Amino acid sequence: MSCMYPFELKPLPYDYEALAPALDAQTLHFHHDKHLQTYVDNLNKVLAPYPEYQNLSLRSLLTRLESLPQPLCTGVRNNAGGVFNHQLYFDCMAPAQQSGKPSQCLQDAIQRDFGNLEQLLSQLKQAALGQFGSGWAWLVTTAEGTLSICSTPNQDVPNLCKFVPLLLVDVWEHAYYLGYQNRRADYFDAWTTLIHWSLVSNIYESRASFL
Ligand SMILES: [Fe+2]
Repeated sequence: MSCMYPFELKPLPYDYEALAPALDAQTLHFHHDKHLQTYVDNLNKVLAPYPEYQNLSLRSLLTRLESLPQPLCTGVRNNAGGVFNHQLYFDCMAPAQQSGKPSQCLQDAIQRDFGNLEQLLSQLKQAALGQFGSGWAWLVTTAEGTLSICSTPNQDVPNLCKFVPLLLVDVWEHAYYLGYQNRRADYFDAWTTLIHWSLVSNIYESRASFL
């Protein structure tokens, strides 16, 4: 699996049917095989004329957007963001019976920064519902382990020099329209049953390696 140019579509870490009924197989098929594939293809297209940037990872590309020449900057922002965000989104879900719980270390941080898990999810839901149009709602941590919620439009990412993304929910309509039509709140509630807490906990506990 290539983590630099030419980028490749990372396989889904579960079967297409594995997240039903919260997310149906057709939604996952289109979302992963069509939408994510398009971001991968377009990222390779925009990087093709720029060999000097082809040895950079997704994260490296996204942390140096300001220094990239136009129009590479816009193409990387949209498409490297699209690949980075979707890979983490698909990784951070698991079949409901395998999704686990936050580790003790993460539970302690959740209690300190939100009061409890319900409050965290309530704030994440507010961010997801409050994102006008297409975008993402995120749970991020600082290097010190402080948790916070944010949202980004389009395929933008949080500041990856300051924050490590732990968890994100896609609120583009393509993520939920086949199953939920305009009911973003219902999609969010169903998505919370799929959160792969053991993976989120692992990222939290190894956050220093991502900065
Ligand atoms: Fe998406």
